[in-house]
Formats: sequence, structure tokens, C-alpha cells
Amino acid sequence: MSIWKKKSLSLLLSEADESEKGLKRTLSSGALVALGIGAIIGAGLFSLTGIAAAEHAGPAVTISFIMAAVGCAFAGLCYAEFASMIPVAGSAYTYSYATMGEFMAWIIGWDLVLEYALGAATVGVSWSRYLLELLSKYNIHIPLELSCSPWETLTVNGVTVEGGIINLPAIFIVSLLSLLLIRGTKESATMNNILVVVKVAVVLLFIILGWSFIDEANYTPYIPENTGVKGEFGWSGIATGAATVFFAFIGFDAVSTAAQEAKNPQKGMPIGILGSLVVCTILYVLFAHVMTGLVPYHMFAGDAKPAATAFAVTGYDFLQTGLIIAILAGYTSVILVMLMGQSRVFYSMSNDGLLPKFFSDIHPKFRTPWKTNLFFMVFVCLFAGFVPVSDLGHMVSIGTLLAFCLVCVGVLIMRKKMPDAPRSFRTPLVPFVPVAGIVVCLYLMYALPAESWLRLFIWMALGVIIYFAYGKKNSNVPNN
Ligand code: ALA
Repeated sequence: MSIWKKKSLSLLLSEADESEKGLKRTLSSGALVALGIGAIIGAGLFSLTGIAAAEHAGPAVTISFIMAAVGCAFAGLCYAEFASMIPVAGSAYTYSYATMGEFMAWIIGWDLVLEYALGAATVGVSWSRYLLELLSKYNIHIPLELSCSPWETLTVNGVTVEGGIINLPAIFIVSLLSLLLIRGTKESATMNNILVVVKVAVVLLFIILGWSFIDEANYTPYIPENTGVKGEFGWSGIATGAATVFFAFIGFDAVSTAAQEAKNPQKGMPIGILGSLVVCTILYVLFAHVMTGLVPYHMFAGDAKPAATAFAVTGYDFLQTGLIIAILAGYTSVILVMLMGQSRVFYSMSNDGLLPKFFSDIHPKFRTPWKTNLFFMVFVCLFAGFVPVSDLGHMVSIGTLLAFCLVCVGVLIMRKKMPDAPRSFRTPLVPFVPVAGIVVCLYLMYALPAESWLRLFIWMALGVIIYFAYGKKNSNVPNN
């Protein structure tokens, strides 16, 4: 069996037609946009904007957001073409199977674990931080050792713990949402819609209420002068800021993992992917503009809750608690969609025989890949409970950027090999858009710390071993 064999388009589409036997088609275009926003707005906006402004870009963090959005838009346009052409669960994994062959498909599917599973763990840890903040307002105190991983320092209300035992709140939220996902996609989508409304409402409230408290003096200078060190302000700082806030955009591609559950995937997929990206970019730029206008940017140094810090200036104290609750709701939907995306990718890989059948078993009543959900509940909990958040975040970013690059490469290959295959959405300006997507993503990868490269290499090497030991032998996709 060749490791380069490809899955034909007709085979992929016939599998999608058979989906009546498997996943249910319940998601409208609106629900898909909500799914995207559900996965996008989260820890990146509410936690990283402050760090990017204080350490890298100053008020020009708005330009960092635009830069990261442009990179994502290039990749998003490529995703949209694929998703409209191959509306099958599994996202980038499935697309690579059709274009670059089985081995590359395995590589990308394996890589997506970094984006989705570790993404859920990262946001789970941020969720636990805001939960502690909320509980402390009501004088409820969870022991800090039980809310912090062993290699992290955590400070709440002036009390510091250096190295905890386990992060139980993060484990709690990941477990709860995994169980909800087993219950059903429709139920999870309904819950997601509610959370998205709450999350967008709080972002709008922050922008509208905050706008009249902006002090123009905080915008001078708009692009602080570079300190002499690459990445500390000036234009290089804006670029490093873009690599930092890139995390805030991760998730729009999760829409494409639900292709097999979309009512009208040819139309709904591009709308879901690009629509959620556009809405979030506008909200992010306005949010960052208000945030850096409320207080001097250097006040956000080392602050894990910059949105709350900035909002304090408005004097709307009673809204502070509401803000934290809404942020918790927002994080919850990110974790939910990430966990869902992860289970759908493994579901597809197992259907193809690259992973044991265990991962594609559908629950007889709920029609969800429940065993995968349970497996990832444990896997994600281990990371959320025991690994520091910054290490997790960098792994998520580097893994996602690699996946974006490969999807852009896939569009170039598909246009050459299958120029006439029907696609209801075509990426504009090919080859410029995919090539620009590759360049921007590689640049952002380059801006990430060297340890993340090493960890990426180790994770991918493990994937290659598993492929040759299991996937290659058990693949059920015919040679063509
Ligand atoms: N984009 C998601 C977030 O910022 C991962 O939380």
C-alpha cells in the first residue's frame, strides 16, 4: 500500500452522502457562523491583548490584530474552497487526503490534535483563572494548590502559590463539556448559540461603554519607538504582537470539521468560515482600540485580566462581575467547539482505518462519536490539569500555523490536479492568496519560541512512528 495514495473526490462525496447513517445534518449557515465565533473569541482577546500591547506593540496592537487577521484570511479563503468542495467531517485532514495523499493527511490530522485538544486545554486553564477571580468576589476560596499545575506560579488576591498540585477547575470544565458533547451536536450547538450571544454582547458593551472614557493621551505615541530589541515596540513589535494575538483567531477553521453536520454545506461552509472571521476581526480591533485608550498600555504588563483592569476606569463597578461571568461563558464555548472539532477529526481518521475503530463508534441513541469524546476528555484533562498555560498556548499556535500552511499548499495542488472539479466557492487570486498565506504563517511560526519548534518536532515524530506501526497497515482506503 502506498503512503501517497489519495482518496478520490467521488469516494469522499459518497461518504458524505452516507452520513444519514452516521452524524446528523442539523446546522444552518447561521449556526455555523455562531460555531465559528464560539471557537474564536476567548482567551486570545480577553487575556493576550494586554500582554501584546504592554510588551510588544503599545496602542498599535490594533495593527497587530489586523496583521494576524490578514494571515488568517488567506488561510480562511483556502479552507472555504476546500470546505465547499469536500463537505466531509475532518477538515484539513480530509482535504489533504484528497490532495497530498495518506501520509500527509495523517501528518495533518495528528497535528490538529495540537490545535484542538491542546487548544481546549489552554482555554480551560484560562477559564479556571477567571473562575477563581469570580469566586473570590463572593469569598469562596478553592485552595490554590488545587487550581494550579505543578510548574506554574499563581497569585490570587495577593496570595501566591509557586507550583501547585493539579488544576481541578480546568479539569471540571473540560469534563463537563465533553459529556455535553456526547449528549448531542444539536444540544451542544444550542448551548453554543446562547454562549455566543452572551460573549458578543459583553464585547459590544465593553466597546460602547468604554468609548466615552477613552483618553486620547494614551494613544501618543501610537507606535512606541523600538527599544533596540527586536519585537519590543516599533514595527518589529507589531509583528511579534501579531504572532501573540494570532491565538485569538484560532478556531475559525473548526467550522470545517462540522461539514458533515451542515444542512447546506456548499453554501454554509464559506459563510461560516469567512463570516465568523470578519465579525471577529472587527470586534477585536475595536476592543483593542478601546482597551488601550482607557489606560496607558504599560499598565497591562503581567496582567492576566487586562479587560477587567481597563474597564475599572469606567467606574461601572457593578458590571465587573457581569464582565467576568460573560468571559467565563465565552471561554466555555471555545472549549466546547475545540473538543467537538477534535472528536470529528479522529472520527474521520478512524473511519479510514488509520486509527482503531474505537474512535468512530457512534452512540446508538445520541449519534455522536462518544468514545472519542471520552478519550479526549481524559487526554485534555491531563494537559489542562498539569501543564503550564504558556507552554500549551505556544504549542497550539505552532500546530495551527502548520495546519494552515498545509491547507494553502493543498489548494495549489488541487487547482493543478483537479481544475474542473465543482467548487461552489473559489479562493480568489490563486496562486497569490495561498502563497501569501504560507508566507505569513511561516513568518508567525518563526516568531514563536524555539522550544515550541522542538516540541512540535517530537510530537510529529511520534505521529510518524504510529502511522508506520498502525495506520499504514490498517488503512481501508483503496489504492488508486
Ligand atoms: N481563539 C480562541 C481563543 O482566543 C482559541 O480563546
